[in-house]
Amino acid sequence: MRTQVAIIGAGPSGLILGQLLHKAGVDAVILEAQTGEYVLGRIRAGVLEQVAVDLLDEAGVGARMHAEGLPHSGFDLLIGGTRHHIDLAGLTGGKQVMVYGQTELTKDLMDARAAAGLETVYEAKDVSVHDFDGKRPRVRYVKDGAPHEVECDFIAGCDGFHGVCRASVPQQAITNFERVYPIGWLGLLSDTPPVSEELIYAKTERGFALCSMRSHTRSRYYLQVPLSEKVEDWSDEKFWNELRLRLDAKAVDQLVTGPSIEKSIAPLRSFVAEPMRFGNLFLAGDAAHIVPPTGAKGLNLAASDVRYLARALIEFYAGSKAGIDHYSEHCLRRVWKAERFSWWMSMLLHNFPDMNPFEQRALDAELDYVVHSLAGRTTLAENYVGLPFED
Ligand code: APR
Ligand code: PHB
Repeated sequence: MRTQVAIIGAGPSGLILGQLLHKAGVDAVILEAQTGEYVLGRIRAGVLEQVAVDLLDEAGVGARMHAEGLPHSGFDLLIGGTRHHIDLAGLTGGKQVMVYGQTELTKDLMDARAAAGLETVYEAKDVSVHDFDGKRPRVRYVKDGAPHEVECDFIAGCDGFHGVCRASVPQQAITNFERVYPIGWLGLLSDTPPVSEELIYAKTERGFALCSMRSHTRSRYYLQVPLSEKVEDWSDEKFWNELRLRLDAKAVDQLVTGPSIEKSIAPLRSFVAEPMRFGNLFLAGDAAHIVPPTGAKGLNLAASDVRYLARALIEFYAGSKAGIDHYSEHCLRRVWKAERFSWWMSMLLHNFPDMNPFEQRALDAELDYVVHSLAGRTTLAENYVGLPFED
């Protein structure tokens, strides 16, 4: 088989890229290791920056998001029992975010791809990438026991943190930057109305909690837990009881509990691989970087990478190499700003048991400054709604 762009991975990065390329008449095939159902079963964050919303509109997949998504113009910080409203729109000249689950977005992208008759090979096993530094890039895989080879001009590594693309780059060609945190987020999804119309990020002596949502009838809650915790040890009742202890009286009063439909623990990690281009292989999304979930930048960064990549590849076929030559540099400028923001928001809002008490007090003072200063709130809001593209 021959195509222009072989995309590895059918998560949000691969699917958005596929859609943008299709719109521009660039030919692509997507190879995904798992089944479509498996991909849709992963529950991830659900807050989209305005620039991500615009990109999804550009890709032609925004209709259901606009109909069913929930535009949010602010959120609450609950610190030591006191609420502080962060008026995103007021602080950023009217910008908002859109609450729309990654699962729903992935489904819209899969439907659009199927409707356009575009090729996605699910359950592609033993995917390997070859000669991406040379003239004949190729991807090999096994499907239903039979070997296949795809010849292409470019390979897009959209295969997530544990994918094969970054792992195929010679070690000396890549530099990894990493920070691991000694905590995780225990998440619970339930078909209960959200406790509040806006998100609540809570910092308490018992640890961080987040009240989020997927719709008016589906809620998503998180608790900071030590990494040693096992999800099996958290009954729904234990989760709700602990959540109540981290909320204020108003929220406890309004909290509607019910059976969980999903519960999982995710570790917090910051990670960046540099560069993001190796000859004709480009990394995008979680394949190149991971952020801790505080601030919900993971999906937004994936969207921003593939926006740069789609433009670069389209430009290449129109006769200019400038976009692909600057791909890594353009992405990384935005990636590092979101990395900094996610790390900063994580440090401000969680409890770190082993932290030097001086640093803990200094962070408490910083959080106090952020909520009481217009400049502080503006910095938080500007980063939360998403920084503008610099091109
Ligand atoms: N071959 C083919 N596909 C693979 C391989 C492989 N060797 N390894 C991984 N994949 C697939 C995974 O099964 C997954 O469906 O690549 C896809 C990568 O998807 P994601 O992990 O969702 O990564 P990405 O598309 O970059 O999306 C980033 O996901 O983790 C969240 O917070 C993150 O919201 C952000 C988004
Ligand atoms: C979520 O709804 O899953 C979510 C929302 C905001 C975050 C992280 C996760 O900062």
